[in-house]
Amino acid sequence: MTALKAVIRIDRFISNATSLSRSQVQRVIRAGRVRVDGVQIKKASLPVRLDAEVYLDESMVAPPLPRYFMLNKPIGVVSAAHDPSQRTVLDLFDVPKRTGLHIAGRLDIDSSGLVLVTDDGQWSHRITAPSNHCPKSYAVTLAEPLTAGQISKLETGLLLKGETKPTKPATVEQLSALELRLTITEGRYHQVKRMFAALGNHVEGLHRLSIGGLLLDQSLLPGEYRPLTPREVGLF
Ligand code: URA
Repeated sequence: MTALKAVIRIDRFISNATSLSRSQVQRVIRAGRVRVDGVQIKKASLPVRLDAEVYLDESMVAPPLPRYFMLNKPIGVVSAAHDPSQRTVLDLFDVPKRTGLHIAGRLDIDSSGLVLVTDDGQWSHRITAPSNHCPKSYAVTLAEPLTAGQISKLETGLLLKGETKPTKPATVEQLSALELRLTITEGRYHQVKRMFAALGNHVEGLHRLSIGGLLLDQSLLPGEYRPLTPREVGLF
């Protein structure tokens, strides 16, 4: 399905595409100033296709273009849109209408590295849907060196505490005694930390390097982000 077949609320459609805030849009909708495919509407939550013909008074509202960013998440920031007490990934974004954005794959507060942020739900679904087995690579720093037997368990699959289904085979590239690059194709809760806990080890540092074929841009300092290029968007 293409992005243009996607459906969003009419108030979000207009506020994403114009300089009006959501509440200003809701007022103009209630005032009967909006037409969708030729029909006057008065319900702000009405779902509309992104390729619908939307008019505000006599001006056509061009469909909002989806936005895609990569962020180098710093340690200490929560992968959430809102948090009452801690800085969130979205707090780092200084862009208009940032409340329309969401995170395509979380990282723990004490993990760093590549986080993708978008307002295109179908695109993020392709990344996060378990059935798509999108590979994610992490630089992992461990408390204890791994044995060859433990590496082979990671490569074949192991049982996480409280679970009955083994993990899918992971790829392990040893970088030094305590550092390795791990690639997994699942996104279970705290998966990497739990994989090493299952081996009696402990993750001291976790940094995401890539998602699918998309590598974290090494020029981004922790906390910095940039829009994805069309080629990068097309990877998913
Ligand atoms: N696995 C974890 O345990 N933590 C993360 O942040 C990402 C993957």
